[in-house]
Amino acid sequence: MKTTKDIFSLHGKVIIITGGAGFLGLSYAEALGKMGAHVVVWDAKDEQGMRQAQQVLLKKKVKADVESVDITDEKSVRHAVRAIIKKYTKIDVLINNAAMNPAVGSADSASQFAPYEKYPIDLWEKELRVNLTGTMICTKSVATYMIKQRSGSIINIGSDVSVVAHDHRVYNDPSEKRFKSVAYSTTKSALLGFTRQWAARLGMYNVRINTFSPTGVQTPAQDKAFVKRYGDMTMFGRMATPQDYVGAIAFLSSDASEFMTGQNLVVDGGKTAW
Ligand SMILES: NC(=O)c1ccc[n+]([C@@H]2O[C@H](COP(=O)([O-])OP(=O)(O)OC[C@H]3O[C@@H](n4cnc5c(N)ncnc54)[C@H](O)[C@@H]3O)[C@@H](O)[C@H]2O)c1
Repeated sequence: MKTTKDIFSLHGKVIIITGGAGFLGLSYAEALGKMGAHVVVWDAKDEQGMRQAQQVLLKKKVKADVESVDITDEKSVRHAVRAIIKKYTKIDVLINNAAMNPAVGSADSASQFAPYEKYPIDLWEKELRVNLTGTMICTKSVATYMIKQRSGSIINIGSDVSVVAHDHRVYNDPSEKRFKSVAYSTTKSALLGFTRQWAARLGMYNVRINTFSPTGVQTPAQDKAFVKRYGDMTMFGRMATPQDYVGAIAFLSSDASEFMTGQNLVVDGGKTAW
Protein backbone atom coordinates (compact mmCIF):
# COMPACT_ATOMS: atom_id res chain seq x y z
CA MET A 1 0.00 0.00 0.00
CA LYS A 2 1.22 3.52 -0.81
CA THR A 3 2.13 5.79 2.09
CA THR A 4 0.80 9.34 2.32
CA LYS A 5 4.25 10.55 1.30
CA ASP A 6 4.09 8.29 -1.78
CA ILE A 7 0.74 9.63 -2.94
CA PHE A 8 2.03 13.20 -2.90
CA SER A 9 5.19 12.26 -4.80
CA LEU A 10 5.79 13.75 -8.25
CA HIS A 11 9.01 11.86 -8.78
CA GLY A 12 9.33 10.80 -12.44
CA LYS A 13 5.98 12.27 -13.50
CA VAL A 14 5.93 13.79 -16.98
CA ILE A 15 4.14 17.13 -16.79
CA ILE A 16 3.32 19.49 -19.68
CA ILE A 17 2.70 23.14 -18.80
CA THR A 18 1.21 25.25 -21.61
CA GLY A 19 2.13 28.93 -21.39
CA GLY A 20 4.89 27.61 -19.18
CA ALA A 21 7.30 30.44 -20.01
CA GLY A 22 4.91 32.99 -18.52
CA PHE A 23 4.75 34.44 -15.04
CA LEU A 24 2.87 31.67 -13.19
CA GLY A 25 3.83 28.88 -15.61
CA LEU A 26 7.49 29.34 -14.72
CA SER A 27 6.76 29.16 -11.01
CA TYR A 28 4.81 25.92 -11.53
CA ALA A 29 7.67 24.53 -13.66
CA GLU A 30 10.19 25.36 -10.97
CA ALA A 31 8.11 23.88 -8.13
CA LEU A 32 7.17 20.68 -9.97
CA GLY A 33 10.72 20.22 -11.34
CA LYS A 34 12.16 20.55 -7.84
CA MET A 35 9.75 17.84 -6.70
CA GLY A 36 11.32 15.45 -9.22
CA ALA A 37 8.94 15.76 -12.19
CA HIS A 38 10.08 15.87 -15.84
CA VAL A 39 8.65 19.24 -16.81
CA VAL A 40 7.87 20.11 -20.41
CA VAL A 41 7.25 23.81 -21.00
CA TRP A 42 5.27 24.83 -24.07
CA ASP A 43 4.93 28.47 -25.02
CA ALA A 44 4.49 30.70 -28.07
CA LYS A 45 6.97 33.38 -26.99
CA ASP A 46 9.63 34.55 -29.43
CA GLU A 47 13.07 32.95 -29.49
CA GLN A 48 14.44 35.34 -26.88
CA GLY A 49 11.48 34.75 -24.55
CA MET A 50 11.90 30.98 -24.80
CA ARG A 51 15.63 31.25 -24.18
CA GLN A 52 15.03 33.41 -21.12
CA ALA A 53 12.56 30.87 -19.72
CA GLN A 54 15.11 28.10 -20.17
CA GLN A 55 17.76 30.20 -18.43
CA VAL A 56 15.48 31.05 -15.50
CA LEU A 57 14.82 27.34 -14.94
CA LEU A 58 18.48 26.38 -15.34
CA LYS A 59 19.42 29.03 -12.75
CA LYS A 60 16.95 27.43 -10.36
CA LYS A 61 18.57 24.06 -11.15
CA VAL A 62 15.46 22.74 -12.85
CA LYS A 63 16.06 20.72 -15.99
CA ALA A 64 13.05 21.13 -18.27
CA ASP A 65 12.26 20.68 -21.94
CA VAL A 66 11.34 24.15 -23.20
CA GLU A 67 9.50 23.87 -26.52
CA SER A 68 8.06 26.44 -28.87
CA VAL A 69 4.44 25.29 -29.30
CA ASP A 70 1.45 27.42 -30.26
CA ILE A 71 -1.52 25.70 -28.61
CA THR A 72 -3.90 26.98 -31.30
CA ASP A 73 -2.00 25.04 -33.97
CA GLU A 74 -3.31 21.48 -33.76
CA LYS A 75 -0.63 20.02 -36.02
CA SER A 76 2.16 21.48 -33.95
CA VAL A 77 0.54 20.32 -30.67
CA ARG A 78 0.12 16.77 -31.99
CA HIS A 79 3.74 16.75 -33.16
CA ALA A 80 4.94 17.96 -29.72
CA VAL A 81 2.85 15.33 -27.93
CA ARG A 82 4.31 12.55 -30.10
CA ALA A 83 7.83 13.82 -29.31
CA ILE A 84 7.14 13.60 -25.55
CA ILE A 85 5.77 10.06 -25.88
CA LYS A 86 8.84 9.09 -27.86
CA LYS A 87 11.17 10.51 -25.21
CA TYR A 88 9.35 9.60 -21.97
CA THR A 89 6.82 6.92 -23.17
CA LYS A 90 4.01 8.57 -21.15
CA ILE A 91 2.33 11.83 -20.13
CA ASP A 92 1.10 12.01 -16.54
CA VAL A 93 -0.14 15.58 -16.30
CA LEU A 94 -1.25 18.33 -18.67
CA ILE A 95 -1.61 21.82 -17.19
CA ASN A 96 -3.67 23.98 -19.55
CA ASN A 97 -2.25 27.27 -18.31
CA ALA A 98 -1.74 29.38 -21.47
CA ALA A 99 -4.15 32.28 -21.85
CA MET A 100 -4.27 35.85 -23.05
CA ASN A 101 -3.82 37.64 -19.75
CA PRO A 102 -1.89 40.89 -20.19
CA ALA A 103 -1.04 42.76 -17.01
CA VAL A 104 -3.23 45.72 -16.16
CA GLY A 105 -1.71 48.94 -17.49
CA SER A 106 0.63 47.13 -19.95
CA ALA A 107 0.75 48.19 -23.60
CA ASP A 108 -0.81 44.88 -24.67
CA SER A 109 -3.72 45.33 -22.34
CA ALA A 110 -5.19 48.61 -23.62
CA SER A 111 -7.76 47.06 -25.97
CA GLN A 112 -8.50 44.21 -23.54
CA PHE A 113 -9.81 46.76 -21.05
CA ALA A 114 -12.17 48.44 -23.56
CA PRO A 115 -15.83 49.08 -22.70
CA TYR A 116 -17.78 46.00 -23.72
CA GLU A 117 -20.10 47.82 -26.11
CA LYS A 118 -16.97 48.82 -28.06
CA TYR A 119 -15.07 45.54 -27.60
CA PRO A 120 -13.33 44.53 -30.88
CA ILE A 121 -14.79 41.25 -32.16
CA ASP A 122 -11.48 40.14 -33.69
CA LEU A 123 -9.89 40.43 -30.22
CA TRP A 124 -12.82 38.52 -28.64
CA GLU A 125 -12.34 35.74 -31.22
CA LYS A 126 -8.59 35.64 -30.63
CA GLU A 127 -9.10 35.24 -26.88
CA LEU A 128 -11.63 32.45 -27.42
CA ARG A 129 -9.17 30.79 -29.78
CA VAL A 130 -6.31 30.79 -27.26
CA ASN A 131 -8.17 30.37 -23.95
CA LEU A 132 -10.73 27.79 -25.09
CA THR A 133 -9.88 26.28 -28.47
CA GLY A 134 -6.19 25.97 -27.56
CA THR A 135 -7.21 24.19 -24.36
CA MET A 136 -9.43 21.84 -26.37
CA ILE A 137 -6.62 21.08 -28.84
CA CYS A 138 -4.13 20.24 -26.06
CA THR A 139 -6.69 18.22 -24.11
CA LYS A 140 -7.78 16.08 -27.06
CA SER A 141 -4.19 15.50 -28.19
CA VAL A 142 -3.01 14.39 -24.74
CA ALA A 143 -6.22 12.53 -23.78
CA THR A 144 -5.62 10.07 -26.62
CA TYR A 145 -2.51 8.82 -24.82
CA MET A 146 -3.92 9.08 -21.28
CA ILE A 147 -6.85 6.90 -22.36
CA LYS A 148 -4.38 4.26 -23.59
CA GLN A 149 -2.35 4.55 -20.37
CA ARG A 150 -5.51 4.36 -18.20
CA SER A 151 -4.07 7.18 -16.09
CA GLY A 152 -3.48 10.91 -16.13
CA SER A 153 -4.47 14.24 -14.67
CA ILE A 154 -5.48 17.32 -16.67
CA ILE A 155 -5.58 20.68 -14.91
CA ASN A 156 -7.37 23.59 -16.55
CA ILE A 157 -6.34 26.95 -15.17
CA GLY A 158 -9.44 28.98 -14.46
CA SER A 159 -9.66 32.05 -12.27
CA ASP A 160 -11.77 33.48 -9.47
CA VAL A 161 -13.69 35.03 -12.38
CA SER A 162 -14.68 31.50 -13.42
CA VAL A 163 -17.27 31.82 -10.61
CA VAL A 164 -17.87 35.56 -10.16
CA ALA A 165 -17.70 38.68 -12.36
CA HIS A 166 -14.81 41.12 -12.25
CA ASP A 167 -15.36 44.02 -9.94
CA HIS A 168 -14.12 46.66 -12.38
CA ARG A 169 -13.73 49.24 -9.62
CA VAL A 170 -10.47 47.56 -8.70
CA TYR A 171 -8.90 48.59 -12.05
CA ASN A 172 -10.06 52.19 -11.94
CA ASP A 173 -8.91 55.39 -10.40
CA PRO A 174 -11.79 57.86 -10.60
CA SER A 175 -10.18 59.40 -13.73
CA GLU A 176 -9.92 56.11 -15.63
CA LYS A 177 -12.45 53.74 -17.11
CA ARG A 178 -11.04 50.25 -17.56
CA PHE A 179 -13.07 47.06 -17.80
CA LYS A 180 -11.27 43.72 -17.63
CA SER A 181 -11.80 41.73 -20.83
CA VAL A 182 -15.29 40.36 -21.28
CA ALA A 183 -13.78 37.42 -23.20
CA TYR A 184 -11.44 36.60 -20.30
CA SER A 185 -14.16 35.93 -17.73
CA THR A 186 -16.37 34.29 -20.36
CA THR A 187 -13.67 31.79 -21.31
CA LYS A 188 -12.64 31.15 -17.69
CA SER A 189 -16.28 30.35 -16.78
CA ALA A 190 -16.64 28.16 -19.86
CA LEU A 191 -13.69 26.08 -18.65
CA LEU A 192 -15.87 24.82 -15.78
CA GLY A 193 -18.34 23.24 -18.23
CA PHE A 194 -15.47 22.04 -20.42
CA THR A 195 -13.91 20.36 -17.37
CA ARG A 196 -17.13 18.62 -16.33
CA GLN A 197 -17.85 17.47 -19.88
CA TRP A 198 -14.38 15.96 -20.35
CA ALA A 199 -14.49 14.44 -16.83
CA ALA A 200 -17.63 12.55 -17.83
CA ARG A 201 -15.81 11.26 -20.92
CA LEU A 202 -12.51 10.31 -19.26
CA GLY A 203 -13.58 8.87 -15.90
CA MET A 204 -14.10 5.37 -17.30
CA TYR A 205 -10.42 5.34 -18.32
CA ASN A 206 -9.18 6.43 -14.87
CA VAL A 207 -8.19 9.83 -16.28
CA ARG A 208 -9.19 12.89 -14.28
CA ILE A 209 -9.62 16.54 -15.21
CA ASN A 210 -10.21 19.47 -12.87
CA THR A 211 -10.11 23.26 -12.92
CA PHE A 212 -7.80 25.20 -10.66
CA SER A 213 -9.01 28.75 -10.02
CA PRO A 214 -6.54 31.25 -8.59
CA THR A 215 -7.06 34.95 -7.91
CA GLY A 216 -4.85 37.93 -8.81
CA VAL A 217 -1.14 37.74 -8.09
CA GLN A 218 0.91 40.75 -7.08
CA THR A 219 3.70 41.80 -9.45
CA PRO A 220 6.27 44.61 -9.20
CA ALA A 221 4.66 46.38 -12.19
CA GLN A 222 1.32 46.98 -10.43
CA ASP A 223 0.80 50.34 -8.76
CA LYS A 224 0.36 50.50 -5.00
CA ALA A 225 -3.24 51.73 -5.07
CA PHE A 226 -4.27 48.83 -7.32
CA VAL A 227 -2.53 46.29 -5.07
CA LYS A 228 -4.32 47.74 -2.02
CA ARG A 229 -7.75 47.75 -3.70
CA TYR A 230 -7.28 44.18 -4.96
CA GLY A 231 -5.83 42.90 -1.68
CA ASP A 232 -8.78 44.32 0.25
CA MET A 233 -11.11 42.04 -1.73
CA THR A 234 -9.58 38.93 -0.14
CA MET A 235 -10.15 37.84 3.45
CA PHE A 236 -6.40 38.00 4.07
CA GLY A 237 -6.17 41.62 2.90
CA ARG A 238 -3.51 40.90 0.28
CA MET A 239 -3.02 39.74 -3.29
CA ALA A 240 -1.61 36.25 -3.90
CA THR A 241 2.02 35.29 -4.52
CA PRO A 242 3.00 32.55 -7.00
CA GLN A 243 4.03 30.49 -3.97
CA ASP A 244 0.40 30.47 -2.79
CA TYR A 245 -0.53 28.27 -5.75
CA VAL A 246 2.17 25.63 -6.04
CA GLY A 247 0.66 23.44 -3.31
CA ALA A 248 -2.66 23.18 -5.16
CA ILE A 249 -0.90 22.50 -8.46
CA ALA A 250 1.24 19.79 -6.85
CA PHE A 251 -1.86 18.23 -5.24
CA LEU A 252 -3.76 18.10 -8.55
CA SER A 253 -0.67 16.70 -10.31
CA SER A 254 -0.09 13.98 -7.72
CA ASP A 255 -1.93 10.76 -6.90
CA ALA A 256 -3.30 12.53 -3.82
CA SER A 257 -6.09 13.89 -6.07
CA GLU A 258 -6.76 10.47 -7.63
CA PHE A 259 -10.48 10.42 -6.74
CA MET A 260 -11.20 14.01 -7.77
CA THR A 261 -12.59 14.85 -11.19
CA GLY A 262 -14.90 17.39 -12.83
CA GLN A 263 -14.32 19.85 -9.98
CA ASN A 264 -13.08 23.38 -9.47
CA LEU A 265 -10.45 24.02 -6.81
CA VAL A 266 -10.67 27.71 -5.88
CA VAL A 267 -7.64 29.25 -4.14
CA ASP A 268 -8.46 32.94 -3.80
CA GLY A 269 -7.85 34.01 -0.21
CA GLY A 270 -11.60 33.84 0.34
CA LYS A 271 -12.33 36.51 -2.30
CA THR A 272 -15.36 34.67 -3.67
CA ALA A 273 -16.56 33.38 -0.29
CA TRP A 274 -17.94 36.60 1.18
N1 LIG B 1 -1.56 36.22 -12.91
C1 LIG B 1 -2.72 36.23 -12.28
O1 LIG B 1 -2.98 37.06 -11.41
C2 LIG B 1 -3.76 35.18 -12.61
C3 LIG B 1 -4.92 35.11 -11.83
C4 LIG B 1 -5.87 34.14 -12.13
C5 LIG B 1 -5.67 33.27 -13.19
N2 LIG B 1 -4.54 33.39 -13.94
C6 LIG B 1 -4.37 32.45 -15.05
O2 LIG B 1 -3.11 31.82 -14.89
C7 LIG B 1 -2.57 31.51 -16.18
C8 LIG B 1 -1.17 32.09 -16.31
O3 LIG B 1 -1.26 33.49 -16.17
P1 LIG B 1 0.03 34.43 -16.08
O4 LIG B 1 -0.31 35.55 -15.20
O5 LIG B 1 1.23 33.62 -15.83
O6 LIG B 1 0.03 35.02 -17.56
P2 LIG B 1 1.28 35.18 -18.58
O7 LIG B 1 0.78 36.09 -19.65
O8 LIG B 1 2.50 35.59 -17.85
O9 LIG B 1 1.45 33.71 -19.12
C9 LIG B 1 0.66 33.18 -20.13
C10 LIG B 1 1.57 32.51 -21.12
O10 LIG B 1 0.78 31.92 -22.15
C11 LIG B 1 1.50 32.04 -23.36
N3 LIG B 1 0.62 31.92 -24.51
C12 LIG B 1 -0.30 32.80 -24.96
N4 LIG B 1 -0.85 32.35 -26.10
C13 LIG B 1 -0.28 31.15 -26.36
C14 LIG B 1 -0.42 30.19 -27.40
N5 LIG B 1 -1.28 30.41 -28.43
N6 LIG B 1 0.32 29.08 -27.35
C15 LIG B 1 1.20 28.86 -26.33
N7 LIG B 1 1.39 29.73 -25.34
C16 LIG B 1 0.66 30.87 -25.35
C17 LIG B 1 2.13 33.43 -23.27
O11 LIG B 1 3.22 33.55 -24.18
C18 LIG B 1 2.54 33.49 -21.82
O12 LIG B 1 3.88 33.07 -21.62
C19 LIG B 1 -3.56 32.05 -17.20
O13 LIG B 1 -4.45 31.02 -17.58
C20 LIG B 1 -4.30 33.11 -16.41
O14 LIG B 1 -5.57 33.36 -16.94
C21 LIG B 1 -3.58 34.31 -13.67
